[in-house]
Amino acid sequence: MRIVVLVSGTGSNLQAVIDAVAAGSLDLEIAAVGADRLDTFGIERSAAAGLETFVVNFKDYASRADWDAALLSAVAAYTPDYVISSGFMRIVAPSFINAFEGRYVNTHPALLPAFPGAHGVRDAMAYGVKVTGCTVHFADAGVDTGPIIAQTPVAVLPEDTEESLHERIKIAERELLIKVLGELAQP
Ligand code: GAR
Repeated sequence: MRIVVLVSGTGSNLQAVIDAVAAGSLDLEIAAVGADRLDTFGIERSAAAGLETFVVNFKDYASRADWDAALLSAVAAYTPDYVISSGFMRIVAPSFINAFEGRYVNTHPALLPAFPGAHGVRDAMAYGVKVTGCTVHFADAGVDTGPIIAQTPVAVLPEDTEESLHERIKIAERELLIKVLGELAQP
């Protein structure tokens, strides 16, 4: 199984996948890691791991449609079996979803369909939930929508800050992502 991983930030979940592949506990090939912006740690750490990287910088394109087309052709060039959105903070176009139908997987730090969007942890805390968690799902063209593959609940502690809660969610999220990828990689 070949995957392309898309990131927008630090890529700590991606690092867990890189480590699991290197350790031999996850049998897949990371064909490339791509980002939508320059200077992400996710790209830096991928390059350091010897992976192919690419950037389709949103700011370099005159229109949204031009960026959509560039992202699709950059990802498709690697002929991935699955594309993983691992902290990729952009909605992709319907053309991208069509090209990778049932093969575009997203990870999100909340129990979807609750608290979609860029601030899933903050929004869950603001609502006052006592349990939140993480979701790995097949993504469609919406904001963190599409069929759920797996979820893990995480308790919110009275002393939690957004950062401490997100860190605990990410521990569960890494485990869940690796488990789901392992299952998808089964022949
Ligand atoms: C992860 O918690 C991921 O679920 C979240 O961004 C974080 C990326 O962390 N994604 C979303 O909120 C998507 N709506 P990382 O770059 O350190 O892996």
